[in-house]
Amino acid sequence: MTGLLKTTLGALATVGLLAGLLPTAQLLAQSTDDPSDTSVPNPYPPGTPMTMPMVVPTDLTNEAAAITQQFVGTLLPTLQLAMAAGGPLNAIEVCAVEAPAIAEKLSADTGWNVRRVSLKARNSSTAKPDFWETMGLNLFDQRQRGGEQGADINLAEIVAGEFRYMQAQPAAPLCLTCHGTDIAEDVRSALLRHYPDDMATGYTAGQIRGAISLRKSMP
Ligand code: HEC
Repeated sequence: MTGLLKTTLGALATVGLLAGLLPTAQLLAQSTDDPSDTSVPNPYPPGTPMTMPMVVPTDLTNEAAAITQQFVGTLLPTLQLAMAAGGPLNAIEVCAVEAPAIAEKLSADTGWNVRRVSLKARNSSTAKPDFWETMGLNLFDQRQRGGEQGADINLAEIVAGEFRYMQAQPAAPLCLTCHGTDIAEDVRSALLRHYPDDMATGYTAGQIRGAISLRKSMP
């Protein structure tokens, strides 16, 4: 395959026309006719954003990042207050109501679709990831295992006419009360009462609990 063709393929993949869902670097690495051909080294260091910066609009990325910060900045103090006021059992009730309400309000206020997703969802009616999110969350896990801090891990891509953005949510020690490996019996049963198919336990500090996921049609 000619260098020009490779470049063209890479560029197509970058704007999401060809594969859209594959990391560009990975696609470039796969774009040789012979899979054992290593003459095209992956030029990207681990952690490189998957899409070329030039095709991901910076203003949309910044806007999305600000909304994820707003989400955390609203939910985290609410969670902390609820924990301090009435312990984890109280905080579960608050979280169950407030987290979806914050997502809904942010969506209405900003015009973005805002939600939280996880490979191991607690709220199976809102948090099950779609294909793009699943791929992103798997990448986030890889990057975290590779040594990156969850707070620094995010992804911006244009997929099928939509701008999509995800910001990883790492499990802090506070989160382990309800998402950890050693959950108190009363907490566990309160969680199961609300979420009979809860999968969101067994995490250790630093692991990626999930992500805030945003999408918006491209203008
Ligand atoms: C008091 C218990 C509790 C604590 C502490 C807690 N969570 Fe949760 N978490 C919940 C509940 C309840 C839900 C489901 C909320 C809903 O219905 O949307 C949830 C859902 C989530 C979700 C959405 C995806 C899913 O699985 O439904 C993410 C992401 C998440 N939590 C991350 C965190 C992080 C990060 C922390 C620490 C900063 C944390 N949680 C601390 C109870 C807790």
